[in-house]
Amino acid sequence: MRRELGRMTTRLLRSGRDALLDASIFYSFDRSGFRRHARSFTPGDLDVDLTAKVCLVTGANSGIGFETSRALAGRGATVWMLCRDRQRGQRAVERLRAATGSSRVHLALLDVSDLGAVRRFARELPAPRVDVLVHNAGVLPDRRLESADGHEITLATHVLGPWTLTQALAPKLRASRDARVVFVSSGGMYTQRLSLDDCEWRRRPYDGVAAYAQTKRMQVVLAELLAEELPAAGITVSSMHPGWADTPAVQTSLPRFWKAMQHRLRTPAEGADTVTWLAASPAARGRSGLFWFDRRPRSTHLLPWTRESGADRRALRALCAGPAAGSATVPDAAPVPLKARRRAASRR
Ligand SMILES: NC(=O)c1ccc[n+]([C@@H]2O[C@H](COP(=O)([O-])OP(=O)(O)OC[C@H]3O[C@@H](n4cnc5c(N)ncnc54)[C@H](OP(=O)(O)O)[C@@H]3O)[C@@H](O)[C@H]2O)c1
Repeated sequence: MRRELGRMTTRLLRSGRDALLDASIFYSFDRSGFRRHARSFTPGDLDVDLTAKVCLVTGANSGIGFETSRALAGRGATVWMLCRDRQRGQRAVERLRAATGSSRVHLALLDVSDLGAVRRFARELPAPRVDVLVHNAGVLPDRRLESADGHEITLATHVLGPWTLTQALAPKLRASRDARVVFVSSGGMYTQRLSLDDCEWRRRPYDGVAAYAQTKRMQVVLAELLAEELPAAGITVSSMHPGWADTPAVQTSLPRFWKAMQHRLRTPAEGADTVTWLAASPAARGRSGLFWFDRRPRSTHLLPWTRESGADRRALRALCAGPAAGSATVPDAAPVPLKARRRAASRR
């Protein structure tokens, strides 16, 4: 009896300490957060054979995309590394083949911000089926840049491109019995309320950090919208954030943050862990439309004023499906309300 009481007290103290550390953000997004959260990962969740799987990873030549590709290829998957630069892509493919011994690692040249190229890629992909699509490519520019189609670059890279790619690959995703689509968002999205107002940044001074965080918020809502539209097809759509990982993007786009934090950052592989888990683990199957961090579904809002309206969600849907994105694919499944799916997922 006394021993049982002791165990309960220890558990309570531990969960109180975890809640405090998680609320601090710092000791949650950093590497100590990963290592603490990893203590409650279910062993064996990623003991999977992916030999029959076809996986696509955008922005795969470095950082989290590279480590996700490595984790998938290491489990036997055929991995298409979707990179925008031939040389960087080729070097990454060679590095990955050498690291995993796999010959099923391929390079596809794709700038995901270029919507025509995205549609062409989907048409020409020599695979009858896609089991995993990871939207990982990301940018944090210091000035307003435009994509080939004239869209602001974070909007094109994080939102319009991934939406177009998902829609264009939908027939190939439907051909899989257990397809997964994963958006690599960012904890930075917590600072933003979804807003479509001047999302091309034409009428105000450009703020790259805000554009980045706003489009990362859009990715979270986009995953929810796609999850509402694709459930009958057996496609699990998720968004996640990797915490703070030491990657080229952080070093070059946020040099001061990187300098101050470099000894507390997660490794790229730690940043890629939840991406891989969502893409590959049976434990993540069917839990569509949720936002994940360190293998656990998390709230999509930490601040009350970031909650979007239904009108904002519809505006995002219209932006993606409209002529701006050049995609007008109509989903073929009846939407399942998000609340119903959240309830179902939390019962698992
Ligand atoms: N590291 C973190 O702490 C952190 C935190 C939150 C979220 N994230 C997210 O994690 C994802 C991966 O970033 P990372 O930290 O691993 O940085 P990274 O190593 O710089 O990787 C970004 C990748 O995206 C590629 N890319 C950018 N624009 C592209 C485009 N238009 N088409 C195709 N590829 C494109 C880059 O290619 P190039 O090499 O050709 O530039 C690079 O391979 C991003 O979405 C980022 O927002 C990272």
